[in-house]
Amino acid sequence: MSTSRHPAHPLETPPDPARRIAILGSTGSIGASALKIVEAYPERFSVVSLAAGRNVDAAFAQCIRWKPVLVSMATEESAAELRSRLFQVGMDIPVLSGAEGTVQVATHPQANFVVSAIVGVAGLEATYEAVRAGKTVGLANKECLVAAGELITREARRQGKPLLPIDSEHNAVHQCMRGGRLDEVSAVWLTASGGPFLHTPKTEFDHITVEQALAHPTWKMGKRITIDSATLMNKGFEVIEACRLFNLPPDRVKVMVHPQSTIHSLVEFRDGSILAQLSVTDMRLPILYALTYPERLESELKFDLRSLKNLEFHPPDFDKFPCLRLAYEAAEVGGAKTIALNAADEVAVAAFLDGAIGFNDIFRTISRVLDETSPHSAESIREVLLMDAEARALAAEVIAVEKSPTASRVGIH
Ligand SMILES: NC(=O)c1ccc[n+]([C@@H]2O[C@H](COP(=O)([O-])OP(=O)(O)OC[C@H]3O[C@@H](n4cnc5c(N)ncnc54)[C@H](OP(=O)(O)O)[C@@H]3O)[C@@H](O)[C@H]2O)c1
Repeated sequence: MSTSRHPAHPLETPPDPARRIAILGSTGSIGASALKIVEAYPERFSVVSLAAGRNVDAAFAQCIRWKPVLVSMATEESAAELRSRLFQVGMDIPVLSGAEGTVQVATHPQANFVVSAIVGVAGLEATYEAVRAGKTVGLANKECLVAAGELITREARRQGKPLLPIDSEHNAVHQCMRGGRLDEVSAVWLTASGGPFLHTPKTEFDHITVEQALAHPTWKMGKRITIDSATLMNKGFEVIEACRLFNLPPDRVKVMVHPQSTIHSLVEFRDGSILAQLSVTDMRLPILYALTYPERLESELKFDLRSLKNLEFHPPDFDKFPCLRLAYEAAEVGGAKTIALNAADEVAVAAFLDGAIGFNDIFRTISRVLDETSPHSAESIREVLLMDAEARALAAEVIAVEKSPTASRVGIH
């Protein structure tokens, strides 16, 4: 293990503090927060390129406001619509589409910083290519690290560039890690709000509706991560993300339920000292930290210390939230298991949001897919994507069987 002061992130002050930014997932919740930060510090940050999914209205508004030199949309249909709308207002911005378009946005030569905030594995290839192109990457997309963390962190080390976590817990850990050396860390504690069902009896989980699951108590986020927070799979992903970002084994990354979400995470050192990071629950702060690391800029995102009342901490209930257990088990094995964990969750959450399966079926689907996944490691992003596709197909099959009238005969357990 490294013994430098900032062990996981060897690069110190970049020679040029101006961040010329590519945002992957610009129309999402993190993308919007990133653009608010760019807006607040025009002397430091500028937008080079944007990648979005299907929200043409939002992408069009961003083109008008930010005049990027390149844009990409998830589908050719959305790209064509955006091109036509830009043409009508006399704007000549190249609009690409698909995974290749997202890669072009991520690796644009003018960009020196990439905010990776596409939801799911759709952002994987572009994030990896950004690292490979030597960009500094601010990583919100945790699914990238769950599916291909070994490859991405290896490449970042090879490039000598930091991977700066935007996920609030890992951002907090990154900040606390600056208080000691990696070989002095005895445990990382990730805090969890517990989600909307912290106090709901397990017997009622079969009747949870989509609306109830989308009502997160403390954070306003995209739909997938909100459902993942309700099952605690999000925390499971974060355990894997922390293992990979900070080079720690799963048994040294622990979860503590902290419903107030005031302490974003903690690092315990071997002498018994625990460093915690506190701040407002606003994603603009971790984004600002990532964009300015290792500096800190003045901001309006102040935390009122008087709100530090009644801080509660409880161990998580693995029986009530078995997705967290699945994530720890997958983290121990890595490779295909963590790829399948993410892929099956993505499919199951989409099916839950569509009303095709119940809340408890999310766990059942993922568990079944993991049981049928053999432990292989992936040596390339292409292999990761192949394993991801296999796990998705399996998850879809499991769900189809569950929904069919003969489900009780075939049965998922
Ligand atoms: N929100 C948070 O507070 C938070 C906190 C920590 C970590 N994260 C992580 O950050 C990531 C983004 O979360 P979010 O909450 O911002 O999600 P979100 O609001 O659902 O936004 C997702 C973004 O990804 C884009 N997208 C989806 N599929 C795409 C594709 N195939 N190609 C290109 N772009 C695509 C969407 O575009 P369209 O909308 O145009 O379709 C949108 O811009 C997730 O990995 C999440 O786990 C989020």
